[in-house]
Amino acid sequence: MTDILIAGGAGYIGSHTVKALLRRGARVVVLDDLSSGRAEFARGAELVVGDLTDRAAVEAVFRRRRFEAVLHFASLIQVGESTADPRKYYARNLVSSLNLLGATLDGGAGSFIFSSSAAVYGVPREIPIPEDHPLEPYNPYGRTKAVVERMLADYGRAYGLRYVSLRYFNAAGADPEGDLGEVHDPETHLIPNLILALLGRRESLDVFGTDFPTPDGTAVRDYIHVVDLASAHVLALEHLLAGRPSDVFNLGTQRGHSVREVIAEAEAVTGRKAPVRDRPRREGDVPVLLASKAKAERVLGWRLEHSDLQTILRTAWDWHRKA
Ligand code: UFG
Repeated sequence: MTDILIAGGAGYIGSHTVKALLRRGARVVVLDDLSSGRAEFARGAELVVGDLTDRAAVEAVFRRRRFEAVLHFASLIQVGESTADPRKYYARNLVSSLNLLGATLDGGAGSFIFSSSAAVYGVPREIPIPEDHPLEPYNPYGRTKAVVERMLADYGRAYGLRYVSLRYFNAAGADPEGDLGEVHDPETHLIPNLILALLGRRESLDVFGTDFPTPDGTAVRDYIHVVDLASAHVLALEHLLAGRPSDVFNLGTQRGHSVREVIAEAEAVTGRKAPVRDRPRREGDVPVLLASKAKAERVLGWRLEHSDLQTILRTAWDWHRKA
């Protein structure tokens, strides 16, 4: 393959994608400030420790080498924190994207892949959500993702930038070989928190909201295995390198699981009982989020291999148990 720059390649989804691309024979440089990533997650790649909001640092990476493609995973991701401290989110997520996109254009890299989110849709008007659903994010995190998507479209029209934007639904699970997994501090996501409760590393799992208009009253989400996310990035890269047009894809399974279903399946997988506390809804949580996955299948030839709930929970459990 080719020379690829992966911003945020030491983080959760980025590192799984680094591994998938190295396996395809790509030469990978990871640019990461290690604020939430881990150096050992970038093994096999050349790691440059640097801050994407530092324009000179970003430009210096591009002066050393010509990249054919740039993948941009680096982002602050906590919805709640983005509402409490929007300034931090706009500064970090937008300035880092501005710098990386500018250096990509100046450096002549022809292809750009952006980590977007289901959060760009806001409260869904239809389920499953198609890619042409209006972008109505309801929190600053989602708004930063939507703004970068608009920038990509503008840069595409004006400067010929070729890009794919991938809207992740609920990323979960871990590398089946046990090299990589999910580490967030603080952890806010359902599956890692559930596993930490099953391992006795947290007192209990809070179930946020039991009065949603869903069959069991808890919120329904579309959990997608991180290895299936990584394979979508490989396909998106091949799509762009083959000269095919810029596009936007949902990455989800189109199947939903409620919080209570996830808990029950985790108990079945681990043979343990989760200590659970029912709590009020978390601000901003919608009842149901489900991706339409038809477009990624049709255009990219994407196929899910690891995203059944049992595999997600088993790989996540194996990772956390030894972490
Ligand atoms: N939940 C709990 N207890 C927890 C954590 C979560 O009950 O300890 C519930 C949430 O209320 C929600 C579901 O489990 O109903 C999933 O919550 P996550 O925090 O795991 O994921 P979200 O759906 O809130 O967020 C995900 C991504 C975000 C993205 C969002 C799109 O992590 O980056 O989808 O709306 F913005």
